Amino acid sequence: MSPLSLDALVEPNGTKGIVCIRVADASDVECLSIYFTGLSATTRNKRFMGARADLAAVAAECVAKAGHPDHFTLLAELRQEGQRTIIGETRYAYDPAARHGDFAISVADVFQRKGVGLRMMTSMERHASNLGHEMIAAETTRVNAEMRGLAKKAGFEDTGLGDWQSVNFAKRLSR
Ligand SMILES: CC(C)(COP(=O)(O)OP(=O)(O)OC[C@H]1O[C@@H](n2cnc3c(N)ncnc32)[C@H](O)[C@@H]1OP(=O)(O)O)[C@@H](O)C(=O)NCCC(=O)NCCS
Repeated sequence: MSPLSLDALVEPNGTKGIVCIRVADASDVECLSIYFTGLSATTRNKRFMGARADLAAVAAECVAKAGHPDHFTLLAELRQEGQRTIIGETRYAYDPAARHGDFAISVADVFQRKGVGLRMMTSMERHASNLGHEMIAAETTRVNAEMRGLAKKAGFEDTGLGDWQSVNFAKRLSR
């Protein structure tokens, strides 16, 4: 996938970098585990809709199905001065019975609200559409304003309330 250059993406220390959105593979497990470990507890709890302690196992799960046509994990990778750092991830899986894809997403705390999440959503949709998938659906908590805002900005529509604390949204993909 093509690198995306974000001038606005400046680290707290003022260093600029290029952000690439790419598909994860088995060699990314360790970096992904470090990424999950570095998230704040708040972001991590929102990402997993609850606490997870087994982050190395979660990272392994994310890439376990690399190469499987109905699953992929996208990484947002910051490249600067020869160094590569994961600053976001999106895990996608297609449910053939429900006939839609499902996803979960996170962006590292200091890089949030800089457009990385939206770019990953766009990449995910393109990728899913190229796989022949026609719909993506997801669930988040009712109090997750950032995910609800991101979904709305990406063109997803609310499809109703889930259990007492969750909300569902979905988007039909154009081909
Ligand atoms: C949800 C999340 C991935 C968004 O990523 P991001 O890179 O910060 O999002 P973007 O910068 O691309 O924001 C795109 C739009 O989303 C909405 N948005 C993002 N953060 C928001 C916030 N804190 N409050 C309200 N809306 C928000 C806005 O509409 C925003 O557009 P704008 O900046 O032009 O107003 C990020 O906040 C995150 O990692 N949250 C914790 C994990 C999580 O909740 N995951 C979802 C459950 S799987």
